[in-house]
Amino acid sequence: MAVTTPRWVVTVKVAVWGACLAPFALLVLRALEFHGLSLGADPVQELLNVCGKTGLNLLLLTLCITPIRRSTGINRLISFRRLLGLFGFFYVVLHFTTYVWLDLGFAWDHVFEDIAKRPYITVGFTALLLLIPLAATSTNRMQRQLGRNWVRVHRLVYVIAVLGVVHFWWQVKRDISEPLLYAFLLTVLLGVRLHHAWKLRRKAASQ
Ligand code: HEM
Repeated sequence: MAVTTPRWVVTVKVAVWGACLAPFALLVLRALEFHGLSLGADPVQELLNVCGKTGLNLLLLTLCITPIRRSTGINRLISFRRLLGLFGFFYVVLHFTTYVWLDLGFAWDHVFEDIAKRPYITVGFTALLLLIPLAATSTNRMQRQLGRNWVRVHRLVYVIAVLGVVHFWWQVKRDISEPLLYAFLLTVLLGVRLHHAWKLRRKAASQ
């Protein structure tokens, strides 16, 4: 029997695709100097900042889906989690590509030196590496094949988000208010997750 997707899910999916692609489309228009738009005085820095920030925002939004699904009971929200996570990965890859290509001109020895010697780059690169298995196993088929292990692997997203926030914090020169806000939001999300795990344990112990 064919399963039809509810109309609201399709509508929200289109909106999520649009919202996730908008920063990229705007960057393209700014790079092309469309109608007087521009990337500002330091285009490479601007690309790095927009892609890094968008990637981090999407990773944190991904973490919001499960608590919202649990509290509302709308299980369909799960499909948005994958979408947001994959777009987060997309922006982090763009961020990395900007750095390797436009910032360092593919000078790989310089790239590896930075990864080895600059702690904020080491942490960012670790987060990027950890994102790869998550993106590669994001399909329904991989989810079925991996079973319980899929859940274990995908818990890495919490570690990645922590590394992303640390990476952001360590590269800020003066005003730490923005990374501080990200750290606060992430702490709340981790707290909600731990509280849920603790409740499950207590329930299991009392049975
Ligand atoms: C999950 C992975 C990553 C996330 C979430 C992330 C996020 C961010 C964020 C939010 C910023 C600050 C943007 C701003 O100030 O507006 C940033 C800056 C930066 N990131 Fe990443 N990043 C990641 C991985 C990487 C990797 C793999 C590299 C390179 C190997 C990298 C290199 C940089 C550089 C060079 C900057 C700019 C630092 C500066 O302003 O001097 N990032 N990143």
